[in-house]
Amino acid sequence: MLPHVTATRYVAPLREGGSLPGIVEADDLGTYVMKFTGAGQGRKTLVAEVICGQLARRLGLRVPELAVLELDPVIGRGEPDPEVQALLKASGGPNLGMDFLPGALGFDPLAFETDPAEAGRVVWFDALINNVDRSWRNPNLLVWHGRMWLIDHGATMIWHHNWPSAAAAAGKAYDASDHVLATFAPDVAGAAAELAPRVTEELLAAAAADVPDAWLAGEPGFDSPDALRRAYVEVLLERAAVIGERITVGERSADKPSQAPEWVRVRLNGKAPQ
Ligand SMILES: Nc1ncnc2c1ncn2[C@@H]1O[C@H](COP(=O)(O)OP(=O)(O)OP(=O)(O)O)[C@@H](O)[C@H]1O
Ligand SMILES: [Mg+2]
Repeated sequence: MLPHVTATRYVAPLREGGSLPGIVEADDLGTYVMKFTGAGQGRKTLVAEVICGQLARRLGLRVPELAVLELDPVIGRGEPDPEVQALLKASGGPNLGMDFLPGALGFDPLAFETDPAEAGRVVWFDALINNVDRSWRNPNLLVWHGRMWLIDHGATMIWHHNWPSAAAAAGKAYDASDHVLATFAPDVAGAAAELAPRVTEELLAAAAADVPDAWLAGEPGFDSPDALRRAYVEVLLERAAVIGERITVGERSADKPSQAPEWVRVRLNGKAPQ
């Protein structure tokens, strides 16, 4: 079960996120990044955040803590932006909260480093969940207190948008050429040997159990939220067994522009700005 908290104050929108997540405070005195059920991306994005985020955390990858964040749209009444107002109005009830990491910086492969073992674990995990959103253009990795954190698993498990063909997609190869960590010689084979045996049916079922019923109910072809949870478990279990050998890692481009501000590159790495 994820912690269940209630939003008490809408602080600010995070405009760099396509789904317009918000920073909110909650009744446990925590600060969260809130992802809304009423966002255009739909509730499957939130299902993916929970299953993949919880799976990553159970595998020892760093993902900020997740919570179910109850929203009474009334807390946004003073919000001047009509786009934010509409989002809050459409999102009453349970939403997704992710612990906000204050002062975190976006990972930039030209300013930060990681080793082949960690890069391999992240690439293997992204292959398992079919993550298309960890490219050098949009890394969805943060650096906080000197360590790398994984965020934003909404655009994963593409097969859950078409369940009749999901089983056939389980063994599909993963092209990591555009992956933000492709330049760090990711040890994918080592990661597969370490992580694949740990992706058991029990582990996957525990991650799927953390998804609120409300986000799973009513999926065509499934008569209960638990039936749908089992479907996620089956595909991921099958994929975990085979994907390690179906990952292509090739560095596609030598001239990827740095996205970090100059002071980050100079201060943190001693590298001259490029
Ligand atoms: N837990 C967090 N702590 C601090 N900052 C965060 C956190 N989660 C997200 N952010 C910031 O908010 C931005 C948007 O978050 P996120 O990528 O999850 O949203 P999104 O709407 O799914 O984005 P995208 O446009 O990639 O689909 C991140 O790039 C990051 O700068
Ligand atoms: Mg993002």
